[in-house]
Amino acid sequence: MTATPRSRSAREAGAARSGRLRFGVATAAYQIEGAVRDGGRGESIWDRFCRVPGAVANGDTGDVACDHYHRWRDDLDIMGALNVESYRFSIAWPRVQPDGRGPVNPEGIAFYRRLVEGLLERGIEPVATLYHWDLPQARQDAGGWAARETAERFAEYAQLTAAALGDVVTRWITHNEPWVVAFAGHAHGTKAPGIRDWPTALRASHHLLLSHGLAVEAIRAEGGPDAEVGITLNLAPARPASSSEADRAAALRMDGHMNRWFLDPLLRRRYPEDLVDLFERHFGPLEGIEPGDAEVIARPIDFLGVNYYFPLTVQADPRMVPLGTGSPRPAEPTTAMGWEVDAGGLYELLMRVTRDYGPLPVDITENGAAYADSGPNGGIVDDPERVAYLEQHLAALERARAEGADVRRYYAWSLLDNFEWEHGYDMRFGLVHVDFETQRRVPKRSGLWYRDHIRTTREGA
Ligand code: FCB
Repeated sequence: MTATPRSRSAREAGAARSGRLRFGVATAAYQIEGAVRDGGRGESIWDRFCRVPGAVANGDTGDVACDHYHRWRDDLDIMGALNVESYRFSIAWPRVQPDGRGPVNPEGIAFYRRLVEGLLERGIEPVATLYHWDLPQARQDAGGWAARETAERFAEYAQLTAAALGDVVTRWITHNEPWVVAFAGHAHGTKAPGIRDWPTALRASHHLLLSHGLAVEAIRAEGGPDAEVGITLNLAPARPASSSEADRAAALRMDGHMNRWFLDPLLRRRYPEDLVDLFERHFGPLEGIEPGDAEVIARPIDFLGVNYYFPLTVQADPRMVPLGTGSPRPAEPTTAMGWEVDAGGLYELLMRVTRDYGPLPVDITENGAAYADSGPNGGIVDDPERVAYLEQHLAALERARAEGADVRRYYAWSLLDNFEWEHGYDMRFGLVHVDFETQRRVPKRSGLWYRDHIRTTREGA
């Protein structure tokens, strides 16, 4: 491909701004830690949700998961062996504040301090997510994210955690995928706390955003001068299934719901009007939005975290209330989750975020694929589809960078096979295979591919 002068200069500008991409892996506390009753940890909404009959495949729970709480040293060694440069993990709020309020539980904080010090010893950058879906159950009993008070409690938790770990952690993510928390958790009910009520979901989404803004302030106040703060959103290109007027309008609504409902208040200080109109038409005036909230939500962030898995193809269906969109139809190939594999969607998304919301440093905080891997064979797990997935998505990302997207970091989801929420242990996303009977970890071909890719990129830099 010959570069036009314009794209060459964009590439140089992009490279000068962001330098070489840093490579990481991501995990989340409830999906790997286990040890749900150790170290004074309180109950979380996922502990409770896993007990609801039929809520999680096979009745699986995160009680043991990857037993990372006890095996974290081995897991850090694995990361070291894979040349991982940055580790995005999450802190379990119920370990830090078992009831979601009050003083810090020293044992909970001590676990994360050991983990972070272990990372630093190995030269791996720690990136801490404060909320990856494990709300203290006591907070849910007090109203959960539907209650404004939860935003204030979250800011307190952020403040305590930043004060306790700010000397060793400088990069913070407030929330992971508030869309999923609000809508999967409160409208569709497929994730904890399993509520099915749109007005509640909308209120929750506002309180999640508000809590983010309050936490940004708290981290800046407590986390030391080097603290950098961002938020992670799950974003997806929403493409009309046909060129019909109806499908195009439905795709625009889906884009509003998935992407702009969070991007606009964070980066433009207002909710998207078309979606406000749509929701208010169905559910009456939005509740819980108070004067001054917009400014808090839009407090400047240092980077935007983007989780990308698949694009959405949207067909109009007036029966689907409130969005009037049919269920997305993924094109082949798909992963074991039924998610369409389309690396072009990542490129499209990055260019769109850059165009509509940039300039803005972006980290791809999750990207990866579940496949039905066969078990270890001769000390390795062969997963050619996952290797291809990574290769294609990293190429798409580099293309977006070359054309001006300011992407700094890429995190493969995930280091280990783990507890995949309502899918239990059926869905394996790891670069490293886990035998959940023995807790034995065996690298997959994709993990070794990633290791080599990091090394050659580093050497070429
Ligand atoms: C994302 C979640 C992450 C994991 C991946 C597959 O939505 O943030 O915890 O479940 O999907």
